[in-house]
This record gives sequence, structure tokens and C-alpha cells, in this order.
Amino acid sequence: MSGAPITFDDGAAYEHGMGRWSRLAGDAFLDWLALPRGLAWLDVGCGNGAFTERIVERVAPASVDAIDPSEGQLDYARAQPLAGKVCYRQGDARALPFGDAAFDVATMALVVFFVPDPAQGVSEMVRVVRPGGTVAAYLWDMYGGGLPHAALGLALRDLGVPPPRPPSVEISKPDALRALWRDAGLGAVEMREICVQRRFENFEELWTASAANLRDTLARLSGADVERVRSKMRERLPAADARGRITHGARANAIRGRVPG
Ligand SMILES: C[S@@+](CC[C@H](N)C(=O)[O-])C[C@H]1O[C@@H](n2cnc3c(N)ncnc32)[C@H](O)[C@@H]1O
Repeated sequence: MSGAPITFDDGAAYEHGMGRWSRLAGDAFLDWLALPRGLAWLDVGCGNGAFTERIVERVAPASVDAIDPSEGQLDYARAQPLAGKVCYRQGDARALPFGDAAFDVATMALVVFFVPDPAQGVSEMVRVVRPGGTVAAYLWDMYGGGLPHAALGLALRDLGVPPPRPPSVEISKPDALRALWRDAGLGAVEMREICVQRRFENFEELWTASAANLRDTLARLSGADVERVRSKMRERLPAADARGRITHGARANAIRGRVPG
């Protein structure tokens, strides 16, 4: 048996499973970039806008453009209160619908490993950012157990169901990510690890957030198998505190580089 592929057709489901994690890691990422106010930003693979909105709220941009192939994600983003400050449009990282040197900064938040040809995606970001501008990204440390729902993935594996992986998962290895940035001609390449934590009120809260990320895979299992996955996942979690609360962490690798010229 194998897991269903990861799909992004429902912005509300994405919000439930990943939105809060994305914002936590995104805030740490923006702090690390420490870029000046008043820049033109492009967010590639913006999804439901979870990270894009942090750009609006935290770094006083001159403008924010954002693209994603999924209309389901974009519908959710366009319905949020900050949507008027972002120009959302449908698009693919491999053929960005913008002219050369149109932006000061381009980001991919949790996206590089979903692009079928990451080198093409990064070269497109380099093309649309002006010389001296910044191309940056962060993605979960998939091989180091950094995914927020890693415990659920391992529990599925225990039952013989390989959890789905992004199509370009190899690029989440730090050496591969660094090579991707260097091979794209970016200079001053720097990386850093981002660790974030959340406290869940109880196991049920953590389960529903994790399960929202793998809902298609779980939907293929019998009720009895889902119960087995739940108890396997519980075994893999850190101990709850005296009130049943569980503190759970995730880890990402972030990278930045400067467009030459
Ligand atoms: C894990 S989500 C990240 C969303 C958002 N950036 C965030 O931080 O929450 C990955 C996103 O990549 C998008 N994606 C998948 N393939 C893509 C491609 N070829 N070009 C651009 N985005 C893509 C998906 O539609 C999805 O919204």
C-alpha cells in the first residue's frame, strides 16, 4: 500500500494543517533575512497566503506579488483581510509571469521541493529579481525529521504505508539546497536552521492538525487502521505535561543568495 500524493486544492484544509507552522517558520525566516523596508517582494508558491501575509505585516514592503498554481489555495488567500495588499495570481515557478529584474526579493516558503524542476524554478526567481536583490527560501528538513507531522509519517510507515513525499524531496538535503543556489549563479549564499515549537492542548489537537496534512492518505485506510496509526503516533510523541499538553517542534533549512551584477 502507498500513500496518496500530496495535493493543495483546499486552502482551509491547508490552514488547519500547516498555516500556523508556516507563519512561525516564516517569521523566523523574515527575521533572519532582515531586509530593509520599502522593497518589491515576490512570493512564489504562496499557497493560501500564510507566509505572504507575514511579509505584509512584518517588513513594510512597497509591493507584494504572489503566485501559486492552485486556485483552491488562492481562493482562500484572496478571502483574507490582508488580501488587498497582495497581488495574487495563478502561476508556476518554472515560468514566472513577470519581466526581468521586476523585484527586489523573491521567496519560496516551503515550496522548492514541490517544484518538479527546482533548478528551473530558482533560475526563474534569479531572472525576475534585479541585480543585487535577494533570492531566498526555506523548507522543512525532511531527512532530519523536521516535518511538523513527522510523527504521523513514521506511524504510517510502521503500518506499511509509506507517507507521501514532495516530488523533489532530495533538494531538502542541505548540501543539495546549497548547490542549487550556487548553480543558479547566486552569490553570498548563506544558510541557517530554523527551529519552531508549538504547544497543543492535548493529543487530539495535534492529531487533527497532523491528519489535515495527510488527509488523502488517511482517507484510504480503514477505521481500524486509522486507530492503529493514532496509537503508533502517540507512542512517538514527547510525553505530555501534567495537563495533557504536548509541546511539539519542527525544523526547516533556510537559504539566501544575492543576484549577481
Ligand atoms: C507547502 S505549500 C506552501 C505554501 C505557502 N508558501 C506557505 O508557506 O504556507 C506548497 C505550495 O507550493 C505550490 N506549488 C506546487 N507546485 C508548484 C509550482 N510548480 N510552482 C509554484 N508553486 C507550486 C502548491 O500549490 C502549494 O500551495
